Amino acid sequence: MKKLLIFSICFTPAVLGLGAEPAFTVDASHAAGKVSPTLYGLMTEEINHSYDGGLYAELIQNRAFLDDPKTPAHWSVVQDGDSAATMALDPANPFNDKLSMSLRLTVSRAEKQHPAGLANSGYWGFPVKPRTKYHASIVARADATFSGPVTVALVSDDGRKIYATEHFSGLTADWKKFEVTLKTGRVAPTANARFVITLDQPGTVWFGLVSLFPPTWDNQPNGFRQDLMQMLVDLNPKFLRFPGGNYVEGNTVETRFDWKKTIGPIEQRHGHPCPWGYRSTDGLGLLEFLEWCEDMKAEPVLAVYAGYSLRGAHVNPGPDLEPFVQDALDEIEYVSGDTNTKWGAQRASDGHPAPFNLHYVEIGNEDWFDKSGSYAGRFAQFYDAIKAKYPQLKTISTVGDDQPAHSLVRSRNPDVIDGHYYRSVDEFLRMSPGYAKGYDRNGPEIFVGEWAAYETSFPPWDNRSRQEPPTPDLRAALGDSVFMAAMERNSDLIKMQCYAPLLVNVNPGGRQWRPDLIGFNAISAYGSPSYYAIQMFSGNLGDEILATASLETAVQGCATRDSRTGEIFLKLVNPQATPETLKIDIQGITSIASKAVAVTLAGDPDDSNSMAQPRKVVPVTATVRHVRPQFDYAMPPHSIVVLKLTELHPAIPAPQQSGRDGRIESSHS
Ligand code: AHR
Repeated sequence: MKKLLIFSICFTPAVLGLGAEPAFTVDASHAAGKVSPTLYGLMTEEINHSYDGGLYAELIQNRAFLDDPKTPAHWSVVQDGDSAATMALDPANPFNDKLSMSLRLTVSRAEKQHPAGLANSGYWGFPVKPRTKYHASIVARADATFSGPVTVALVSDDGRKIYATEHFSGLTADWKKFEVTLKTGRVAPTANARFVITLDQPGTVWFGLVSLFPPTWDNQPNGFRQDLMQMLVDLNPKFLRFPGGNYVEGNTVETRFDWKKTIGPIEQRHGHPCPWGYRSTDGLGLLEFLEWCEDMKAEPVLAVYAGYSLRGAHVNPGPDLEPFVQDALDEIEYVSGDTNTKWGAQRASDGHPAPFNLHYVEIGNEDWFDKSGSYAGRFAQFYDAIKAKYPQLKTISTVGDDQPAHSLVRSRNPDVIDGHYYRSVDEFLRMSPGYAKGYDRNGPEIFVGEWAAYETSFPPWDNRSRQEPPTPDLRAALGDSVFMAAMERNSDLIKMQCYAPLLVNVNPGGRQWRPDLIGFNAISAYGSPSYYAIQMFSGNLGDEILATASLETAVQGCATRDSRTGEIFLKLVNPQATPETLKIDIQGITSIASKAVAVTLAGDPDDSNSMAQPRKVVPVTATVRHVRPQFDYAMPPHSIVVLKLTELHPAIPAPQQSGRDGRIESSHS
């Protein structure tokens, strides 16, 4: 692979013939390197209820009654008037060996006017929306005296309003699956709702699984929440790194992301404890991750479990590690193998005959935490096995450029190294101008697989961060943006990068980490200022890096060009509390369109978006007129600006220009 070295240009104001204002100089005479087409992507794992109670659209919390072995968490008894019922976990009557617990409902007194049963509180409520269909699937059996009917309904928290209701009958002593559609009418949207299951006569019913889905993205069964998927698609991601993060490792070897247990019908998925303090249903399993990539037109960056878990246990390289290496090979075959392979055939029978396009496999996660020193050996064993069977795949080492050079994996030459940057805003402002400048362009490619700026005085893993709002403010977006600009300047080497974590359920108890990019509750979602900054950057990316230099200013930035259209994208970040007028100097071009577009995210640095004010800080688009190859541009305080300029072919004369340079004439949101 050809690697290019990018030099910063050291122009002086005298050479440019410019005045006292600071200059931002772009050398457009030639490309300084190629922008990685996969630069912007997403990182994801089960944290902050990202999947269960988040993107994975299942609405019933504790649908298989496995969350707590002692009590039916999130379920309660419903009684009305004189009716009477009890509920109990029943391990002696499981649906199957995967869903190894059932919930027994015993209704001792009930009648039509006074039914009794169960209620589920959902993931902090249910998203009741007008004229919407909800699909319930319920695995149940009953004692010999009862065959139905069973009523299911979405009702208000106080039980007074019924938003949608339906019945099913035909229960027997054998387990059966019942499918029911609930349809709302002209209701006002609310999350203050419960899902109730009631009987209007005495009887005993066992439930093996109770599931409820709203309409999903692309109407896929077992699918994704529509609003969150739209927000992710709007980030223009080119890859998805999954399933972690710590989630791939698990707290222990036994609770790792064991991919073979996450495929097939949901009735066959037992789920497992995730390292972030709650249980994962595994409803969003390996195939769903891959379909998620497909839905976003992004490629999978597959992290495989590599024999190290968070609480410090590791599997010794050698024979002990062999089964884990084989699991990884099987996983790669499931993702990318033809249907004539064992695991490719399994994928087809799970509903997806076409193989997925896989280029990158990450071996573990943050293995610098493994103080036993076993990663070099573990990496080598995975590397050799993967390369022997899949020589075209690129392997990613989890000891990245954020770690001291002496700790990098030397046992083999990883194709890519993954560095993680959780840094304060000040630290990003300090380090970004020099980031990756002196790196060896002949070394491994770089993946910045997790990064985020925090604006608090303590890091994300400090418990005090739980007192702060879950998503960051504009100040953090300024830190994020200078780092993104640094990665873009070096995107011949930084092949992929992704903010983390991506999603947070903002309800009390929903979150384990801050800052997070997108906040949501049961019914709504919003993007942080950082979300909009990433969208501005990823949606305006050329294929050529243009070398830049900024002089005597705290403004940081980068420039790229789309070689097909001649568009030049300048990304500028003014972290200061004062406006800054820049002499923008595009060198090496003769002609530029006099009209440009400026997209600006600016405001009070303490401002942020929230559930109550989801669009307080959003980008504003304006037309800039009278643009020339050299022009003045005034940046507001605390601002992130993407300027979209168009280089004109020398043969096409530029339109007549007059008036002050770089004047913004009209603006709209
Ligand atoms: O993004 C949150 C956590 O930070 C990830 O799970 C882990 O890889 C990192 O330490």
